[in-house]
Amino acid sequence: MADTVYDLLVIGAGTGGYEAAIRASQLGMKVALAEKGKTLGGTCLNVGCIPSKALLESSEHYHVAKHKLSKHGVLVSDVKLDLAAMLKRKDAVVRQLTGGVEFLFKKNKIDWLKGLAKITDAQGEVKKVDVAGTTYSAKKVLIATGSEPSSLPFLPYDGKKVVSSTEALEFTEVPKHLVVIGGGVIGLELGSVWLRLGAKVTVVEFLDRLVPGMDSAIATELQKVLTKQGMEFRLFSKCTGATQKGDWTLVEAEDRKTGTKFTLEADRVLIATGRRPVTKGLGAEEAGIKINKAGQIEIDDHFQTSVKGVYAVGDVVRGPMLAHKAGEEGVAVAEILAGQAGHVNYEAIPGVIYTWPEVASVGATEDELKEKGTPIKVGSFPFQVNGRAKAMDETDGFVKIIAHQKTDRVLGVHIIGPRAGDLIAEAAALMEFGASSEDIARTTHAHPTLAEVFKEAALAVDKRQIHL
Ligand code: NAI
Repeated sequence: MADTVYDLLVIGAGTGGYEAAIRASQLGMKVALAEKGKTLGGTCLNVGCIPSKALLESSEHYHVAKHKLSKHGVLVSDVKLDLAAMLKRKDAVVRQLTGGVEFLFKKNKIDWLKGLAKITDAQGEVKKVDVAGTTYSAKKVLIATGSEPSSLPFLPYDGKKVVSSTEALEFTEVPKHLVVIGGGVIGLELGSVWLRLGAKVTVVEFLDRLVPGMDSAIATELQKVLTKQGMEFRLFSKCTGATQKGDWTLVEAEDRKTGTKFTLEADRVLIATGRRPVTKGLGAEEAGIKINKAGQIEIDDHFQTSVKGVYAVGDVVRGPMLAHKAGEEGVAVAEILAGQAGHVNYEAIPGVIYTWPEVASVGATEDELKEKGTPIKVGSFPFQVNGRAKAMDETDGFVKIIAHQKTDRVLGVHIIGPRAGDLIAEAAALMEFGASSEDIARTTHAHPTLAEVFKEAALAVDKRQIHL
């Protein structure tokens, strides 16, 4: 049993956990963080956002060198793929960033407790948490244990032929045919990586559209551009089973509209049908912490669980499974514990899909607002006529701004296009400040920039766009 009574003991070193630990330490708390993995940074830094972005960046360079440079008058011959070097670079990026978090822990004097944490007593003023056989005491506990890939009962992971997003970052050869189950964020990002590197990629999606939750016009455009790149789609199709045939997996599926059964022969299958919260081994239920039917820890508006003094943030609680959402929540908890007004504005959390072109959105979709009966006006503007997009030769996509019909307040911004993930930051900041489409329309945007499409979409809300 360790002697120190920590002000805060965080469980899980993903974005939610480590940002909470750093902010709490900045605010003068004595902080420990328990992590079972070998490195800090959780899913995002180790096997999620960061390695996938490293591969997306590298694979896009390869694709550009092979297919796009000649149009710019840059002739390269004999473009070859060194996959081992690509994977090594990705691992180096991960190492730098996880090492960076370790450095920040030292700088902020946060104790890293190595091992699996289990809450053994949560009821008293001082909580007890066991980490790898040692009991630690803390006045407050924050659960930030994240999520893990969910699986399909009839298609279990074997880590080689049937894999989750983690192993799909590690293929040592480009698959011949990668079948992706699930046309969501992970399926399309990792599908894009291997498509660009030369794999045939087929996405089997249960619904009749891609990326549910994103604006439907954006989803349609995304499917169009990915199809142009060679990705194949079997929408409205249910995966029903699979059989192994030597090195190949025969994926069995059914078209939900016609009932027609079909099979796809794949040397690699990526299951990307969503993620589920991780609470196993945590001792949460035994400690009286309520977990709902979806497996999420229930929290109140101040991130407190059903047990006083125990908090939870990130993928393990309600809301979008996004690293930056978890980070904001972690910081908010630290500030609340310090007596400040920690707060997260869930209306203005951007989401990005790092395909090319990228997809990014913040706020409500048109479908959601129509369903609620909110009176809206919509302005859209394409990248096709934007000077910078033309200069880049990246003209696919558009910006769509949805504003309230009466107040003109911006309720949602949806972008598909080059660098959409960077462009959305302006929209998120403006929505945070309650901007109207008129505010955007009156803001000078540098010329020539991609951001001018955002301004033109704002002008288009009142049908006064200049360049179309
Ligand atoms: P997702 O929820 O984005 O997409 C899963 C897709 O699988 C959905 O389209 C769903 O309809 C489909 N599906 C479910 N069961 C199916 C079945 N049996 N057969 C065929 N299709 C089926 O989940 P995904 O892509 O696994 O990502 C998990 C989480 O990670 C998401 O919440 C996502 O936001 C997050 N993430 C975010 C990233 C980003 O911000 N760029 C990158 C990667 C993941």
